[in-house]
Amino acid sequence: MISASAPGKFVVMGEHAVVYGKPALALAIDMRFTIRMNPGKTFRVNGKPATNATMSPHMKWISEAHGNRPVSIFIDERVPTGSGLGSSAALSAAYSGAVRRLCNLPVDHESVAREAYEAEFAAQGRGSPMDTSASVNGGGIALNVPYSKEDFLWHIEKNGNSWDISRFDVPEMTFVIGNTGIKAPTGPLVEKVRKYRDESEFAYNIVEEIGQLTLDGMKCITGNDWVELGALMSYNHKLLGILGVSCPELDSLVEAAMPTSYGAKLTGSGGGGCMVALTDKPKETAAAIRAAGGTPYIVKTGVPGLEVKVREKKPANQGKKKNPRKSKRDESSE
Ligand code: MEV
Repeated sequence: MISASAPGKFVVMGEHAVVYGKPALALAIDMRFTIRMNPGKTFRVNGKPATNATMSPHMKWISEAHGNRPVSIFIDERVPTGSGLGSSAALSAAYSGAVRRLCNLPVDHESVAREAYEAEFAAQGRGSPMDTSASVNGGGIALNVPYSKEDFLWHIEKNGNSWDISRFDVPEMTFVIGNTGIKAPTGPLVEKVRKYRDESEFAYNIVEEIGQLTLDGMKCITGNDWVELGALMSYNHKLLGILGVSCPELDSLVEAAMPTSYGAKLTGSGGGGCMVALTDKPKETAAAIRAAGGTPYIVKTGVPGLEVKVREKKPANQGKKKNPRKSKRDESSE
């Protein structure tokens, strides 16, 4: 049996702008998507024959890329879907890791990050490699932020945009995520921003400004300047609101978190989903988010990325106790 698990993520700064090759920062979190996979005669998900509802387009794309070998999978999904926490990226990373391992292909992080991004792009028809790279690498990742040679991970190009992806040391800070409970798929929100940016110089400049802010945010992280990082995050939220991807529920959770936080913003594609607050009073911030109608998660960061393990099947009689009533003579006659 193959077991593959990959984490969700949140975006510290730079979502949407990253689609156009602008800088972004993301951290993997302790909510994971785990798949257990066995080769089978037909496709099965959680014990039932796979249908369009149980096989996501990402899984179908990855299966087809590897000759559609039928498999039986069990899914343990701890990343809330449609909430900006990278659930489809974690699914793509874990599924790609498991299928590649089954096909005896390399499961190094770069190969899986590339494949998971292709699956995500094919399913959504748009987007950056931020979520998939964060899930595969774990820890903290920066896109198109100047990096040292040791921190460079991989370079990805798509549709005229390119991203240099590097790792960074995860800050020793607490983040609290607040979920509005409103599910909002990424594709239409990315499309909304694309249209606005194409049609308006004002929106184009907002996207540029988010990119610049994110570079400043990286300086705050390396300098442990949480006051300034929080202020930049809050300003980033305002700019995302101007781009039209916030909503009243997100704004109210952000507002509720502010008195006990350095700063707060929506995270991911917006339109619902989650916000994130940078705080050193996580319990108070979580209580404020709950009081405002959200579901808070005090998340752990600095978590590992994709992990793929193979568990050998135990021989049928291993671990079975011998029948104590059997006599020596019975045993020797077997
Ligand atoms: C979604 O988590 C982040 C977006 O920037 C889309 C993407 O980068 O693909 C909105």
